[in-house]
Amino acid sequence: MPAFMQNPSPAAGQIPSQTQRESACKTLGPLSLADAAATEALGARLASALCEHRGWVVFLHGDLGAGKTTLVRAWLRALGVQGTIRSPTYTLIEPYDIDGQSLLHLDLYRLNDPDELAQLGLADTPPQVGGWLVEWPERGGNLLPAPDIVVHLKIDGSGRRISLDLPNEFYFSLIAPIFELAQHGV
Ligand SMILES: Nc1ncnc2c1ncn2[C@@H]1O[C@H](COP(=O)(O)OP(=O)(O)O)[C@@H](O)[C@H]1O
Ligand SMILES: [Mg+2]
Repeated sequence: MPAFMQNPSPAAGQIPSQTQRESACKTLGPLSLADAAATEALGARLASALCEHRGWVVFLHGDLGAGKTTLVRAWLRALGVQGTIRSPTYTLIEPYDIDGQSLLHLDLYRLNDPDELAQLGLADTPPQVGGWLVEWPERGGNLLPAPDIVVHLKIDGSGRRISLDLPNEFYFSLIAPIFELAQHGV
């Protein structure tokens, strides 16, 4: 069972305070991802960095084909999701229930109006969502929760480049070491 889904200790499961959320936004990267395997490896590392915490909100920005779904798939796989992981291109939302914790993967590219979000059944999701992974969040207006981690993916020749904005200091401290290692090719 992934640690993410176990009952974390109060300290590990604590939702970062408003003060932490509002601290200055920090950035990580850009980091080159030479191929899809590199995107997948980073997705798995991000998953394990956050696996003992819940309630995180990740926004993923980037053109079509930039690698957003690739990163999310690897993230979900690392959390223990088995079988086919579909892209929510048409369903807009794919919920995952991992050991009683709800994790949501959204792709809002085809959302015509933010108000359509309300029809997706988000109101019926458990109050404590374990994690949000949202592609095309800019189409969701202000109906989405505020992000803790904002991923930017760019096509760069035959590879990709990734950078992160981290408005939440708490998550910055968890993720910065991963980028440091990846930047040194570890
Ligand atoms: N770092 C990378 N270098 C080259 N190709 C990549 C990289 N990351 C992902 N890809 C490839 O890009 C394609 C589109 O990826 P996808 O994740 O569906 O993009 P998006 O969800 O942003 O539209 C896939 O074929 C995937 O294998
Ligand atoms: Mg996608």
